[in-house]
Amino acid sequence: MLMAQTLDGKIAKHADHFPDWTGAEDKKLFVEKSKKAGAVMMGSRTFDTIGRPLPGRKNIILSRNKSRVSEWDNLIYTDEKPTEILKNLEEDGYSEVILAGGALVNSLFAKENLIDEIIVTVSPLVFGEGLALFEDHIAIDLELKEAKTLENSLVCLTYRVQK
Ligand SMILES: NC(=O)c1ccc[n+]([C@@H]2O[C@H](COP(=O)([O-])OP(=O)(O)OC[C@H]3O[C@@H](n4cnc5c(N)ncnc54)[C@H](OP(=O)(O)O)[C@@H]3O)[C@@H](O)[C@H]2O)c1
Repeated sequence: MLMAQTLDGKIAKHADHFPDWTGAEDKKLFVEKSKKAGAVMMGSRTFDTIGRPLPGRKNIILSRNKSRVSEWDNLIYTDEKPTEILKNLEEDGYSEVILAGGALVNSLFAKENLIDEIIVTVSPLVFGEGLALFEDHIAIDLELKEAKTLENSLVCLTYRVQK
């Protein structure tokens, strides 16, 4: 799971909030990690803030809305269970995939204990309101693997999920 958050743990002020506050270094990290994995999963609300597939990667958009039909070769909509999505990716030859939010879809994977690593970039901002990394009462034990400072006061924290 790869996310950007504020110091008060917010990922957006509201569900339609476009993530234009996360900084160039965060975007660079996201492109690097997601291109390396080759596949990105996100909820339909997150996808709607972007509006088009991320190029050079398989885009898996979780949605239960059957009227959504993909217009792109590298994007699929799915309402399969998280375990099924991961099984299909593995069968297609992917060994890792980036879970890219939002709060609701992160929770779907966390509830089934399917997240191995959490990388967050912490921006020097406080929103005072908004969405958190997870929507539900998710509790996870973590081990800090790495903490580093990126440019422009961004801090990047990498955690291994204790299973
Ligand atoms: N800071 C960051 O790094 C970051 C990263 C990602 C997102 N965000 C922000 O997070 C916000 C969106 O997050 P969110 O929590 O509101 O929404 P979300 O997790 O992106 O998407 C939620 C949508 O997923 C679909 N869904 C829910 N349960 C499902 C299931 N069991 N199977 C298949 N699909 C299911 C539903 O869409 P349908 O109605 O289509 O069925 C639901 O509306 C945006 O503001 C975005 O900018 C921030």
